[in-house]
Parts: sequence; structure tokens; C-alpha cells
Amino acid sequence: MHQVISNLKAQGKRIGFVPTMGALHEGHESLVIKAKSENDVVVCSIFVNPTQFNDPKDLEKYPRMPEKDVKRLEEVGCDIAFIPGVSDIYPHGNKMLDIHFGKMEETMEGAFRPGHFAGVATVVDRLFNIVQPTSAYFGEKDFQQLAIIRRMTQMMGHTINIVGCPTLREDDGLAMSSRNLLLTDEQRKAAPLIYKALKQAEAFIPHHTPEAVIELVKRYVEQSMFLRVQYFQLVDPETLEDITSWEGKKTVQGCIAVLTEGPRLIDNVAYTL
Ligand code: PAF
Repeated sequence: MHQVISNLKAQGKRIGFVPTMGALHEGHESLVIKAKSENDVVVCSIFVNPTQFNDPKDLEKYPRMPEKDVKRLEEVGCDIAFIPGVSDIYPHGNKMLDIHFGKMEETMEGAFRPGHFAGVATVVDRLFNIVQPTSAYFGEKDFQQLAIIRRMTQMMGHTINIVGCPTLREDDGLAMSSRNLLLTDEQRKAAPLIYKALKQAEAFIPHHTPEAVIELVKRYVEQSMFLRVQYFQLVDPETLEDITSWEGKKTVQGCIAVLTEGPRLIDNVAYTL
């Protein structure tokens, strides 16, 4: 990779980068297509990053299908698939990046997955150093991750353009995710309630208080015995701080995590006031 990237840089090529953990779906493909339209060369990494999993069972079960992934990448015009091993990314053991994001990493995902964002920031920084992209593309489905990666990029002085891309959804509204592959038929049938609940809330904002809207979304999702809301928070899209009133707000992000007996699902929508 060092050799390939040096050659590309010497030729002044714009490098678009799509970091992934594999088990690629149309959402990832849309990132590659966007990267392709804005750069000369597209690199996609596939690396199931052990340091961002706080639950070893989740790491073990994470779907892996590199051959299928590479085929998909070829079909959408990705130029380079970078599939490093753990010792390539962590040659000195799991040495983590020594930066902190304060409240941004303590809320929502950070509250329920301790250490998760330290792992994400560390691996993305490592990958940025290796791939040296002009622009890097991330899905908005992982809204908090995107905000933290933007902050990490600034803090580490990377001169990389971070591009957030809209969430792709199945026909029934379920946000595309590699983890959807782990849902049972019953869980899969119930899962579209999550996005329906998020959309339902639109009609209640700003006529009801944020607390009432939170309650409404929770109840709506939990109509299904297969879904339990771990959190639903209404936050400022930049600082990720909880909002307690609609006053002075232009956009509020509603972020949700839902437990099934199988995978944990996350989603979010922007509410315009
Ligand atoms: O969103 C993901 O797939 C991962 O968190 C990322 C950004 C590739 C880092 O491992």
C-alpha cells in the first residue's frame, strides 16, 4: 500500500477512500460510487477492527465474506481493495490513539459501548496515515461516528475532506447494515418499525415537548415484542448534546439504538424545525 499510494501521490491523483468492515451492501456501494465520481482512484478497506468491539461475541459473530466483497467492489468500479491483517494495523499491539472527545464520546453509543469510539478513532487515523486520501466517505447511519471522525480529523491535523453520505434503506425503510444479515425472520419483520417510529415523531415536533416525543418513539418501537429501545435521544447535530427544548433549534437529530435478541440496530433522522 505504501508503494502504491506513493506512486499515485507522485502522479497527483485524487484518492477517494471508503473504510469498511466488510459484509458490503448497497449502502457501501453508494459510498464507492460517490467516491468514484469525485476522485481519480478509489480505495476501499475491509478490516473488522477488533479494538472497536466492546463485546467479544459481537466481534466473533460479525459477518465476514471477503471474496464476495471484492467482487462487489469490482462491479462498482473500486480500484483498490485494501484488506490488512490485525498485525498490519496494530504492529505494536492494540496501542490506542491518545485523544479524547469528551461528552461527544460519552453519550449514546459511547454510553453503551465503552471504548468503542477510541477504537474507531484509532483505526481510522491509522488507515488515513496509510491511504493518505484526498477525501474519505462515511455513511450518515453512524451519525455519532461521523461526528467523532470529523473531530478526530481536525485534532490530528489530517487534511482530508470528510464526506457524509445519506443512509440507504430497504424498501420497508430499514436502514441498510451489515448486521441485518444476523436478524432472524421475526426480527427482520419487526425491524422496519424503527424507521417508522422515527418518521412518526416528525408530526409531533414541535407541538410536544422533547420528552414526550422520546416517549412516543419508544412506545411505537416497543409495540413489537422483538424490539427493545436501548436509547432514543434528540441531540444537537454538531455537539451531540441532548436538547431539552425546541427553542432556537433549526435541526435536531433523533438517534436510536434498538436491542433484539440478535444484533443491535441503530438509526437516526434529522428533524427540521
Ligand atoms: O463504520 C464502520 O464500518 C467502521 O466503524 C469503520 C469506520 C470502518 C472503522 O472500523
